[in-house]
Amino acid sequence: MFYQFACCLVVVWLISASDEHCLELPPVNNSIFVAQEVEGQILGTYFCIKGYHLVGEKTLLCNATKEWSAPTTKCRLGHCPDPVLVNGEFNYSGPANINDRITFTCNDHYILKGSNWSQCLEDHSWTPPFPICKSRDCGPPGNPPHGYFEGNNFTFGSTITYHCEDGYRLVGTQEQHCTDGDWSSELPLCELIQKAPKPAPLAECEKALRAFWETKDLCKATKDFMQRLKESDLTMKELKYFLEMKKAELKAKILLTL
Ligand SMILES: *[C@@H]1O[C@H](CO)[C@@H](O)[C@H](O)[C@H]1NC(C)=O
Ligand SMILES: *[C@@H]1O[C@H](CO)[C@@H](O)[C@H](O)[C@H]1NC(C)=O
Ligand SMILES: *[C@@H]1O[C@H](CO)[C@@H](O)[C@H](O)[C@H]1NC(C)=O
Ligand SMILES: *[C@@H]1O[C@H](CO)[C@@H](O)[C@H](O)[C@H]1NC(C)=O
Ligand SMILES: *[C@@H]1O[C@H](CO)[C@@H](O)[C@H](O)[C@H]1NC(C)=O
Repeated sequence: MFYQFACCLVVVWLISASDEHCLELPPVNNSIFVAQEVEGQILGTYFCIKGYHLVGEKTLLCNATKEWSAPTTKCRLGHCPDPVLVNGEFNYSGPANINDRITFTCNDHYILKGSNWSQCLEDHSWTPPFPICKSRDCGPPGNPPHGYFEGNNFTFGSTITYHCEDGYRLVGTQEQHCTDGDWSSELPLCELIQKAPKPAPLAECEKALRAFWETKDLCKATKDFMQRLKESDLTMKELKYFLEMKKAELKAKILLTL
Protein backbone atom coordinates (compact mmCIF):
# COMPACT_ATOMS: atom_id res chain seq x y z
CA MET A 1 0.00 0.00 0.00
CA PHE A 2 2.81 2.43 1.01
CA TYR A 3 4.91 1.45 -2.03
CA GLN A 4 1.97 2.19 -4.32
CA PHE A 5 1.76 5.65 -2.81
CA ALA A 6 5.52 6.08 -2.90
CA CYS A 7 5.96 5.72 -6.65
CA CYS A 8 3.28 8.25 -7.58
CA LEU A 9 3.59 11.96 -7.83
CA VAL A 10 1.66 13.89 -5.19
CA VAL A 11 0.65 17.42 -6.11
CA VAL A 12 -0.28 20.14 -3.68
CA TRP A 13 -1.70 23.44 -4.92
CA LEU A 14 -1.39 26.37 -2.56
CA ILE A 15 -2.92 28.87 -5.00
CA SER A 16 -6.55 30.01 -5.00
CA ALA A 17 -7.04 31.31 -8.55
CA SER A 18 -7.20 28.10 -10.62
CA ASP A 19 -7.00 29.89 -14.00
CA GLU A 20 -3.41 30.84 -13.05
CA HIS A 21 -2.32 27.21 -13.15
CA CYS A 22 0.09 25.60 -15.47
CA LEU A 23 -1.81 22.57 -16.71
CA GLU A 24 0.69 19.91 -17.81
CA LEU A 25 2.56 18.66 -14.77
CA PRO A 26 6.01 17.16 -15.23
CA PRO A 27 5.79 13.75 -13.53
CA VAL A 28 8.61 12.86 -11.18
CA ASN A 29 8.30 9.53 -9.37
CA ASN A 30 8.58 9.43 -5.58
CA SER A 31 8.15 13.16 -5.18
CA ILE A 32 5.71 15.64 -3.73
CA PHE A 33 5.18 18.72 -5.87
CA VAL A 34 4.09 21.94 -4.20
CA ALA A 35 3.01 24.95 -6.26
CA GLN A 36 2.75 28.35 -4.65
CA GLU A 37 2.64 31.99 -5.60
CA VAL A 38 5.78 33.92 -4.74
CA GLU A 39 6.01 37.63 -5.61
CA GLY A 40 3.47 37.36 -8.42
CA GLN A 41 5.07 34.26 -9.97
CA ILE A 42 4.01 30.67 -9.65
CA LEU A 43 6.77 28.44 -8.38
CA GLY A 44 6.70 24.67 -8.21
CA THR A 45 8.97 22.85 -5.79
CA TYR A 46 9.75 19.13 -5.70
CA PHE A 47 10.31 17.29 -2.44
CA CYS A 48 11.51 13.71 -2.60
CA ILE A 49 9.77 11.31 -0.25
CA LYS A 50 11.56 9.51 2.56
CA GLY A 51 14.25 7.15 1.25
CA TYR A 52 14.84 9.18 -1.95
CA HIS A 53 17.03 12.18 -2.68
CA LEU A 54 16.65 14.85 -5.32
CA VAL A 55 18.88 15.25 -8.37
CA GLY A 56 18.42 18.21 -10.76
CA GLU A 57 16.24 21.31 -10.44
CA LYS A 58 14.34 21.55 -7.19
CA THR A 59 12.19 24.51 -8.31
CA LEU A 60 10.29 25.15 -11.55
CA LEU A 61 8.67 28.32 -12.79
CA CYS A 62 5.24 28.57 -14.44
CA ASN A 63 5.96 31.02 -17.25
CA ALA A 64 3.84 33.40 -19.33
CA THR A 65 2.71 30.67 -21.75
CA LYS A 66 1.40 28.62 -18.80
CA GLU A 67 4.09 25.98 -19.14
CA TRP A 68 6.56 24.74 -16.54
CA SER A 69 10.20 25.53 -17.28
CA ALA A 70 12.00 22.41 -18.49
CA PRO A 71 12.12 19.86 -15.64
CA THR A 72 15.19 17.67 -15.23
CA THR A 73 14.31 16.53 -11.74
CA LYS A 74 14.65 12.96 -10.46
CA CYS A 75 14.15 11.38 -7.07
CA ARG A 76 16.81 8.70 -6.66
CA LEU A 77 16.92 5.83 -4.19
CA GLY A 78 18.72 6.66 -0.92
CA HIS A 79 17.46 9.25 1.51
CA CYS A 80 20.75 11.15 1.10
CA PRO A 81 23.02 11.13 -1.99
CA ASP A 82 25.87 8.62 -2.16
CA PRO A 83 28.90 9.99 -0.35
CA VAL A 84 32.08 10.81 -2.24
CA LEU A 85 35.64 11.08 -0.93
CA VAL A 86 38.53 11.28 -3.38
CA ASN A 87 41.74 9.63 -2.06
CA GLY A 88 39.93 8.26 0.97
CA GLU A 89 37.53 5.61 2.25
CA PHE A 90 34.28 5.36 4.23
CA ASN A 91 32.27 2.53 5.80
CA TYR A 92 29.11 2.73 3.73
CA SER A 93 27.22 0.54 1.33
CA GLY A 94 23.76 0.62 -0.13
CA PRO A 95 21.17 3.41 -0.17
CA ALA A 96 21.32 5.76 2.81
CA ASN A 97 18.56 5.89 5.38
CA ILE A 98 17.76 8.67 7.81
CA ASN A 99 20.27 8.75 10.71
CA ASP A 100 22.85 6.58 8.90
CA ARG A 101 26.27 7.59 10.09
CA ILE A 102 29.51 7.13 8.14
CA THR A 103 33.13 7.64 9.11
CA PHE A 104 35.88 8.74 6.75
CA THR A 105 39.60 7.97 6.56
CA CYS A 106 42.17 9.20 4.05
CA ASN A 107 44.70 7.12 2.15
CA ASP A 108 48.42 7.27 3.02
CA HIS A 109 50.12 10.59 2.13
CA TYR A 110 46.78 12.38 2.49
CA ILE A 111 45.45 14.33 5.42
CA LEU A 112 41.77 14.69 6.27
CA LYS A 113 40.40 18.24 6.32
CA GLY A 114 36.95 18.62 7.84
CA SER A 115 34.84 16.24 9.88
CA ASN A 116 35.76 12.52 9.94
CA TRP A 117 32.09 11.56 10.22
CA SER A 118 28.74 12.60 8.74
CA GLN A 119 25.10 11.71 9.22
CA CYS A 120 22.13 11.52 6.84
CA LEU A 121 19.46 13.91 8.11
CA GLU A 122 15.68 14.13 7.57
CA ASP A 123 16.22 17.03 5.09
CA HIS A 124 18.24 14.67 2.78
CA SER A 125 21.57 16.31 3.63
CA TRP A 126 24.76 14.82 5.05
CA THR A 127 25.77 16.84 8.09
CA PRO A 128 28.50 17.85 8.82
CA PRO A 129 29.53 18.15 5.13
CA PHE A 130 31.98 15.64 3.68
CA PRO A 131 35.67 16.24 4.37
CA ILE A 132 38.38 16.30 1.71
CA CYS A 133 41.63 14.33 1.62
CA LYS A 134 44.47 16.75 0.96
CA SER A 135 47.88 15.63 -0.23
CA ARG A 136 50.57 15.95 2.44
CA ASP A 137 52.99 17.13 -0.27
CA CYS A 138 53.18 20.84 -1.01
CA GLY A 139 52.69 22.60 -4.33
CA PRO A 140 55.54 24.63 -5.84
CA PRO A 141 56.07 27.65 -3.59
CA GLY A 142 55.76 31.19 -4.91
CA ASN A 143 58.53 33.73 -5.37
CA PRO A 144 58.38 37.21 -3.88
CA PRO A 145 59.19 40.07 -6.29
CA HIS A 146 63.03 40.37 -6.54
CA GLY A 147 63.44 37.03 -4.72
CA TYR A 148 63.82 33.33 -5.44
CA PHE A 149 63.98 30.05 -3.56
CA GLU A 150 66.53 27.25 -3.45
CA GLY A 151 65.37 23.64 -3.28
CA ASN A 152 63.63 21.34 -5.76
CA ASN A 153 61.81 18.90 -3.50
CA PHE A 154 58.32 19.95 -2.46
CA THR A 155 57.30 16.67 -0.78
CA PHE A 156 56.20 16.33 2.84
CA GLY A 157 59.10 17.21 5.17
CA SER A 158 61.20 19.12 2.61
CA THR A 159 62.80 22.49 3.21
CA ILE A 160 63.35 25.38 0.81
CA THR A 161 65.38 28.56 1.37
CA TYR A 162 64.53 32.03 0.10
CA HIS A 163 67.04 34.62 -1.13
CA CYS A 164 66.77 38.14 -2.50
CA GLU A 165 68.49 39.74 -5.49
CA ASP A 166 71.47 42.05 -4.87
CA GLY A 167 70.37 45.34 -3.37
CA TYR A 168 67.36 43.74 -1.61
CA ARG A 169 67.00 42.59 1.96
CA LEU A 170 64.85 39.58 3.03
CA VAL A 171 62.03 40.38 5.45
CA GLY A 172 60.19 37.39 6.93
CA THR A 173 61.07 33.73 7.26
CA GLN A 174 63.95 32.49 5.12
CA GLU A 175 63.44 28.72 5.59
CA GLN A 176 60.11 27.07 4.85
CA HIS A 177 59.11 23.49 5.60
CA CYS A 178 56.42 21.46 3.90
CA THR A 179 54.07 20.10 6.57
CA ASP A 180 50.78 18.39 5.70
CA GLY A 181 50.37 20.09 2.34
CA ASP A 182 51.20 23.64 3.37
CA TRP A 183 54.43 25.65 3.60
CA SER A 184 55.25 26.55 7.18
CA SER A 185 55.03 30.34 6.85
CA GLU A 186 54.02 33.23 4.61
CA LEU A 187 56.18 34.23 1.64
CA PRO A 188 59.00 36.51 2.77
CA LEU A 189 59.43 39.93 1.16
CA CYS A 190 62.45 41.40 -0.61
CA GLU A 191 62.83 45.00 0.45
CA LEU A 192 64.95 47.52 -1.46
CA ILE A 193 68.02 48.51 0.60
CA GLN A 194 67.95 52.32 0.79
CA LYS A 195 71.34 53.90 0.00
CA ALA A 196 72.37 57.00 2.02
CA PRO A 197 71.28 60.04 -0.01
CA LYS A 198 74.13 61.68 -1.96
CA PRO A 199 74.99 65.32 -1.24
CA ALA A 200 73.88 67.63 -4.02
CA PRO A 201 76.79 67.68 -6.52
CA LEU A 202 76.62 71.41 -7.27
CA ALA A 203 76.84 72.37 -3.58
CA GLU A 204 79.87 70.09 -3.23
CA CYS A 205 81.47 71.73 -6.25
CA GLU A 206 80.86 75.18 -4.81
CA LYS A 207 82.55 74.10 -1.55
CA ALA A 208 85.52 72.69 -3.49
CA LEU A 209 85.88 75.88 -5.52
CA ARG A 210 85.81 78.08 -2.37
CA ALA A 211 88.48 75.87 -0.74
CA PHE A 212 90.56 76.20 -3.90
CA TRP A 213 90.41 80.00 -3.76
CA GLU A 214 91.19 80.18 -0.08
CA THR A 215 94.19 77.79 -0.17
CA LYS A 216 97.65 79.21 -0.57
CA ASP A 217 99.26 75.96 -1.76
CA LEU A 218 98.07 75.80 -5.37
CA CYS A 219 99.29 72.26 -6.00
CA LYS A 220 97.47 70.80 -2.97
CA ALA A 221 94.38 72.90 -3.71
CA THR A 222 94.18 71.61 -7.28
CA LYS A 223 94.51 68.03 -6.07
CA ASP A 224 91.80 68.52 -3.44
CA PHE A 225 89.53 70.18 -5.97
CA MET A 226 89.90 67.32 -8.47
CA GLN A 227 89.28 64.76 -5.69
CA ARG A 228 86.11 66.55 -4.55
CA LEU A 229 84.87 66.85 -8.12
CA LYS A 230 85.36 63.11 -8.58
CA GLU A 231 83.43 62.34 -5.37
CA SER A 232 80.59 64.68 -6.35
CA ASP A 233 79.83 62.63 -9.53
CA LEU A 234 79.58 65.80 -11.59
CA THR A 235 79.77 65.39 -15.36
CA MET A 236 81.96 67.69 -17.45
CA LYS A 237 78.85 69.31 -18.90
CA GLU A 238 77.48 70.06 -15.45
CA LEU A 239 80.84 71.42 -14.31
CA LYS A 240 81.05 73.68 -17.35
CA TYR A 241 77.54 74.99 -16.71
CA PHE A 242 78.38 75.59 -13.05
CA LEU A 243 81.53 77.53 -13.90
CA GLU A 244 79.64 79.64 -16.47
CA MET A 245 77.14 80.52 -13.72
CA LYS A 246 79.98 81.49 -11.39
CA LYS A 247 81.52 83.64 -14.10
CA ALA A 248 78.24 85.48 -14.67
CA GLU A 249 77.84 85.97 -10.92
CA LEU A 250 81.33 87.49 -10.63
CA LYS A 251 80.73 89.78 -13.60
CA ALA A 252 77.52 91.04 -12.01
CA LYS A 253 79.33 91.68 -8.72
CA ILE A 254 82.07 93.66 -10.50
CA LEU A 255 79.47 95.73 -12.39
CA LEU A 256 77.69 96.51 -9.12
CA THR A 257 80.87 97.68 -7.39
CA LEU A 258 81.77 99.98 -10.34
C1 LIG B 1 7.86 6.03 -12.60
O1 LIG B 1 7.48 4.84 -11.95
C2 LIG B 1 6.67 3.97 -12.77
C3 LIG B 1 6.22 2.82 -11.93
O2 LIG B 1 7.29 2.23 -11.21
C4 LIG B 1 7.50 3.53 -13.99
O3 LIG B 1 6.73 2.74 -14.84
C5 LIG B 1 7.96 4.77 -14.75
O4 LIG B 1 8.83 4.40 -15.81
C6 LIG B 1 8.70 5.72 -13.82
N1 LIG B 1 8.99 6.96 -14.54
C7 LIG B 1 10.19 7.49 -14.59
C8 LIG B 1 10.31 8.78 -15.36
O5 LIG B 1 11.15 7.01 -14.04
C1 LIG C 1 7.72 28.68 -21.23
O1 LIG C 1 8.37 27.44 -21.01
C2 LIG C 1 8.31 26.53 -22.11
C3 LIG C 1 8.95 25.22 -21.66
O2 LIG C 1 10.24 25.41 -21.12
C4 LIG C 1 8.96 27.15 -23.34
O3 LIG C 1 8.85 26.28 -24.43
C5 LIG C 1 8.29 28.49 -23.63
O4 LIG C 1 8.96 29.12 -24.70
C6 LIG C 1 8.32 29.40 -22.40
N1 LIG C 1 7.62 30.63 -22.68
C7 LIG C 1 8.04 31.84 -22.29
C8 LIG C 1 7.18 33.02 -22.64
O5 LIG C 1 9.10 31.99 -21.69
C1 LIG D 1 30.75 3.38 10.38
O1 LIG D 1 31.57 3.36 11.54
C2 LIG D 1 31.03 4.10 12.64
C3 LIG D 1 32.03 4.07 13.78
O2 LIG D 1 33.05 3.16 13.56
C4 LIG D 1 29.69 3.50 13.07
O3 LIG D 1 29.13 4.26 14.13
C5 LIG D 1 28.75 3.51 11.90
O4 LIG D 1 27.56 2.85 12.21
C6 LIG D 1 29.37 2.82 10.67
N1 LIG D 1 28.49 3.04 9.53
C7 LIG D 1 28.15 2.08 8.69
C8 LIG D 1 27.22 2.47 7.59
O5 LIG D 1 28.57 0.94 8.81
C1 LIG E 1 37.55 11.33 14.37
O1 LIG E 1 38.09 12.53 14.91
C2 LIG E 1 38.07 12.59 16.32
C3 LIG E 1 38.60 13.93 16.74
O2 LIG E 1 38.32 14.93 15.81
C4 LIG E 1 38.92 11.46 16.90
O3 LIG E 1 38.85 11.48 18.30
C5 LIG E 1 38.43 10.12 16.36
O4 LIG E 1 39.27 9.09 16.79
C6 LIG E 1 38.36 10.12 14.85
N1 LIG E 1 37.76 8.88 14.38
C7 LIG E 1 38.29 8.15 13.39
C8 LIG E 1 37.58 6.90 13.04
O5 LIG E 1 39.31 8.47 12.83
C1 LIG F 1 62.21 14.52 -1.44
O1 LIG F 1 62.31 14.44 -0.02
C2 LIG F 1 61.73 13.24 0.52
C3 LIG F 1 61.75 13.36 2.05
O2 LIG F 1 62.65 14.29 2.51
C4 LIG F 1 62.50 12.05 0.00
O3 LIG F 1 61.93 10.87 0.51
C5 LIG F 1 62.41 12.05 -1.54
O4 LIG F 1 63.17 11.01 -2.05
C6 LIG F 1 62.89 13.37 -2.10
N1 LIG F 1 62.62 13.40 -3.55
C7 LIG F 1 63.47 13.88 -4.44
C8 LIG F 1 63.01 13.87 -5.86
O5 LIG F 1 64.57 14.30 -4.13
